[in-house]
Amino acid sequence: MSHVKTDRREPVGEEIQPFLVMDILDRANALEAEGRSIIHMEAGQPGAPAPHAVREAARRALEGGKIGYTEALGQPGLRKRIAQYYGEQIGVDIAWRQIVITTGSSAGFILAFLSSLPRGAKIALAAPYYPAYPNTIRALGFYPVILRSNAASNFQMSVDLLESAVQDVDGVLIASPSNPTGGMIDDDELDRLSTYCRDRGLVLFSDEIYHGLSYTKKERSLLEYSRDGFVINSFSKYYCMTGWRIGWTVVPEDRLRSVERLSQNLYISSPTLSQLAAPFAFDAVDELNGHVRNYAQNRDFLLDSLPEIGLPPSAEPDGAFYLYCDVSRLTDSPTQFCVRMLEECGVACAPGNDFDTGSHANRVRFSYAGSHADILEAADRLARWLGSKT
Ligand SMILES: Cc1ncc(COP(=O)(O)O)c(C=O)c1O
Repeated sequence: MSHVKTDRREPVGEEIQPFLVMDILDRANALEAEGRSIIHMEAGQPGAPAPHAVREAARRALEGGKIGYTEALGQPGLRKRIAQYYGEQIGVDIAWRQIVITTGSSAGFILAFLSSLPRGAKIALAAPYYPAYPNTIRALGFYPVILRSNAASNFQMSVDLLESAVQDVDGVLIASPSNPTGGMIDDDELDRLSTYCRDRGLVLFSDEIYHGLSYTKKERSLLEYSRDGFVINSFSKYYCMTGWRIGWTVVPEDRLRSVERLSQNLYISSPTLSQLAAPFAFDAVDELNGHVRNYAQNRDFLLDSLPEIGLPPSAEPDGAFYLYCDVSRLTDSPTQFCVRMLEECGVACAPGNDFDTGSHANRVRFSYAGSHADILEAADRLARWLGSKT
């Protein structure tokens, strides 16, 4: 080839921000390997393993022999079981073919965005946000339009917030309950948002990964209001299956073939062992609701104790399993603060600049999905650590 390449543009990956909490997790694991006692409140994952019946089903499947590829859109058995869940639990009738199995909800976003938006499209989301949202949007060649939310709207997206956007958008991404504040969109607002998006031809993406984890009121699915948008969900959180890498997306009928083509090419299929075991998660409600009661207890305890220690939460969470706490009176750098907290008192948490770069960044996020004993110990360590600092 005679042509010498002179184009020295940055690779796409160079534009992507690190997921800071994963850096903290690495350091926490390294300290643990050195023999330090670490309480993990950094990563958003349940302390409990997958339900017993799920693990048993996986064991049986392994003993059964071959674990090959499945259909690109997922095993019909699992898709039908999820449709049954929507009928029985949410009261909405969804054709099982519209339910697509994905490699965690992370893959669901990629399939949903790529199948419904043109190149360079703009997607609105509320800050503070789950860090992977803007990073995924950018990596795919779309543009995040970040709209700053506040306590009055539960740190959530709203029609008013969308109206305040200075640029036109093509899609809107919502998450209720949200990460990192645990705030929920009010039922009326969800109704307004779905109508607003439908009337203007905007694609609405609803991340429902924290459904099943609510403390103040019942969470609502977008499917109760509209069939136009994408509903993205996962077995990671309520079902305690983060490492199984399995989720699902409810796809509008006219986008199904596009999702299938993308799925065939990008992933071939989602993990088969997880697909075989996941249906059993729906029958483990007693076991899983026991974990939710534990999170509720942790939430109540931390809502009482963290403000006394000097770590006031930005809001009382409606759901999920996080508290997003203000550290502006303690530090100018939440990352440094988290590193010191980890090194000096053995409590790992996530820095707020992962979730926002604006005025809500001077925060840290604690995950309270661990055991109650760990949460009590963490509060004790933090009280001693911060006490020794004043
Ligand atoms: C709001 C939100 N959406 C999506 C995900 C991705 O989860 P997974 O890919 O494990 O389903 C997470 C993980 O923390 C999250 O907090």
